Amino acid sequence: MTEPEATTDGSYDATARVVDPVVGADDDEQRVEAALRPRRLADVAGQDRVCDQLGLVLEAARRRGSPPDHVLLSGPPGLGKTTLAMIVAAELEAPIRITSGPAIQHAGDLASILSSLTEGEVLFLDEIHRMSRPAEEMLYLAMEDFRVDVIVGKGPGATAIPLELPPFTVVGATTRAGLLPAPLRDRFGFTGYLDYYDVNDLVSIVRRSASLLGVSAHEDGISEIARRSRGTPRIANRLLRRVRDWAQVHGRDVVDYEAAMAALELFDVDPRGLDRLDRAVLEALCRRFGGGPVGLTTLAVAVGEEPDTVETVAEPYLVREGYMLRTPRGRAAAGLAWAHLGLTPPPTAWGAAEATLDL
Ligand SMILES: Nc1ncnc2c1ncn2[C@@H]1O[C@H](COP(=O)(O)OP(=O)(O)O)[C@@H](O)[C@H]1O
Ligand SMILES: [Mg+2]
Repeated sequence: MTEPEATTDGSYDATARVVDPVVGADDDEQRVEAALRPRRLADVAGQDRVCDQLGLVLEAARRRGSPPDHVLLSGPPGLGKTTLAMIVAAELEAPIRITSGPAIQHAGDLASILSSLTEGEVLFLDEIHRMSRPAEEMLYLAMEDFRVDVIVGKGPGATAIPLELPPFTVVGATTRAGLLPAPLRDRFGFTGYLDYYDVNDLVSIVRRSASLLGVSAHEDGISEIARRSRGTPRIANRLLRRVRDWAQVHGRDVVDYEAAMAALELFDVDPRGLDRLDRAVLEALCRRFGGGPVGLTTLAVAVGEEPDTVETVAEPYLVREGYMLRTPRGRAAAGLAWAHLGLTPPPTAWGAAEATLDL
């Protein structure tokens, strides 16, 4: 069975840069990703809390025999938002309609999607924070009252004809929950916050993916890939395939520690799992801005990226792992950043005190 892929504006899958520019997120990648998605809640490794919460919401709805509350999934790219959206539909045994904020240019586009939904259908709205304002307003009316006003005509003669909709469930996904206007956020009865995976969960994910791809893999190879995946299943799966490529080209048929080490080095993934963008951000912070604080936009220009990419892709992981700080005056290098780059911070730098600790 092939699965529809969410249409997102490709520029947002900046996790692709881990192996960029050798391999981007192409069709082949999307096919493999779809094949590796867990299909049911029980198959999901990690995210225990979100899965328990979601499981409860879905089970209660199933027992009531009515669609569940609208679900919002929030978290950095590659952690499983699309996967969970598909799982919601699968668990409800409901059809799923897939679109994305950037794909909805006009409120009319949304009106035509909404008016064609069937009872109980799941409407997956990826990158929901990137929808236009008029579409957003139409959406929250529809989510609350299962109604959409279809505007007929133009100018002073235009009239709004209310159209009743069958009950349905919106599953929204966003990397930037903070950008959703409060009225829209309030229409979601449940928000699942996805966090980075720990290494044990990534080990299970890589092991499972290897088996689905028919790749034979040793535990030492699997755990090296898991350790260097930035807590992100999408990256773990991608690195697995690059290590497999390396192994094949070198006449081995097993993903082991040596293959993992060689391939990860080739693809610029460092021993802590940081990729080139991560390191570029840290280098800019430490070398060009003396450790900061520096504004996001200035930092983004220094690494040649969009501020949004730096903020949604690189920053959450760097902050969580203690490389970077968000201060009221901008971004700053934490002690670990200096240590990681092998630099000595100037005594006045943010994080200078921590950098002398043995991290
Ligand atoms: N909990 C998980 N267990 C196993 N694989 C996962 C899990 N979460 C994500 N993946 C894999 O990672 C890839 C990216 O997940 P996806 O749902 O597309 O992330 P997002 O929509 O948050 O960017 C998918 O191909 C899927 O196979
Ligand atoms: Mg997605």
